[in-house]
Amino acid sequence: MQKFFEIEKTSESKARAGVINTDHGQIQTPIFMPVGTVASVKTVHQRELKEDIKAQIILGNTYHLMLRPTMDIMEKAAGLHQFMNWDLPILTDSGGYQVFSLAKSRKITEEGVKFKSHIDGSLHFMSPEVSMQIQRQIGADIFMAFDECIAYPSDYNAVKTSMELTHRWLKRCITWTEENKELYGHKQRLFPIVQGSCYSDLRKISAEVISEAGAEGNAIGGLSVGEPEPEMYRITNEVTDILPTDKPRYLMGVGTPWNILESIGFGVDMMDCVMPTRNARNAMLFTWQGVMNMKNERWKEDFSPLDEFGTSFVDSAYSKAYVRHLFVSKEYLAKQIASIHNLAFYLDLVKVAREHIVAGDFYQWKDSIIPQLKTRL
Ligand code: GUN
Repeated sequence: MQKFFEIEKTSESKARAGVINTDHGQIQTPIFMPVGTVASVKTVHQRELKEDIKAQIILGNTYHLMLRPTMDIMEKAAGLHQFMNWDLPILTDSGGYQVFSLAKSRKITEEGVKFKSHIDGSLHFMSPEVSMQIQRQIGADIFMAFDECIAYPSDYNAVKTSMELTHRWLKRCITWTEENKELYGHKQRLFPIVQGSCYSDLRKISAEVISEAGAEGNAIGGLSVGEPEPEMYRITNEVTDILPTDKPRYLMGVGTPWNILESIGFGVDMMDCVMPTRNARNAMLFTWQGVMNMKNERWKEDFSPLDEFGTSFVDSAYSKAYVRHLFVSKEYLAKQIASIHNLAFYLDLVKVAREHIVAGDFYQWKDSIIPQLKTRL
């Protein structure tokens, strides 16, 4: 039988090139996963995601999908792949982050979280069991354990208490998924999540507990929540030192192009972030040359291609002056073109990173390219 995760090449240090095998196809790692919160990667439709952007896996969100369209519709549609006509892999987040960041009010107990919907204020309950059940109904290839992502900064005792709750919830997630099988005939893999904020000793305990769960992949949560960048790097590096090397490692909610490359350097295999799509909607484009603000006067008469080094159709089809005009005119198409560009760039970034891992010069390349990526054009 095909292994879920195979490492093709380990670099000089921790970075590695691998392959994840799912029932909806293969994922080349390291990989960036576009965020499709409500069964839609905002402004980008599925054919462009697959054929132009070359996304290999996308994200969905338990919290949003349970509220709308609801699980009744999801089951009638026979799961998210069918519902949105996406036949490649999907990963769902558990709701254990959105409940804390989006819900109008929430009350956490050992049992779970009572919260009010950000949409209409209606009352809901989410627990490890409820989250697992919903993620079975969604039918993602990879699904996440129900965790608590504590705010940054929080004091040591609060973080410890929260992390221990996450660990107890993990046990319940595992028990429930062992007792309740998949609904749609394809395999689903549960990834547990390391917490512990920026306290090294708590992160160490959490990484050990999560490793011992013996899951097929592991995630690092609770980062990119307002901590300084060096702290995020330090914790990522400490946690990847402990997580098993033979399982994929997923760093949740990260980040900028340079965050992505540094994380790959720490041995992270999977990443997701709303940044390429959210910033695109605000006219910020990431390129190999640096960061462009498309509303800038500077592009007004620049009829050169949007991005001469870009891989997407939009990069050569449209000029900078045209895309600036669309943004200034507040046209929907501006957001669409910018989102396609940014996602294609992120997918190209991880593809080229992978090539350098395979070639054996990843770290040298990463350090030489990052200043350019950060340049404001
Ligand atoms: N997305 C970004 N960070 C987190 C986290 O800590 N937990 C979960 N469930 N999702 C996240």
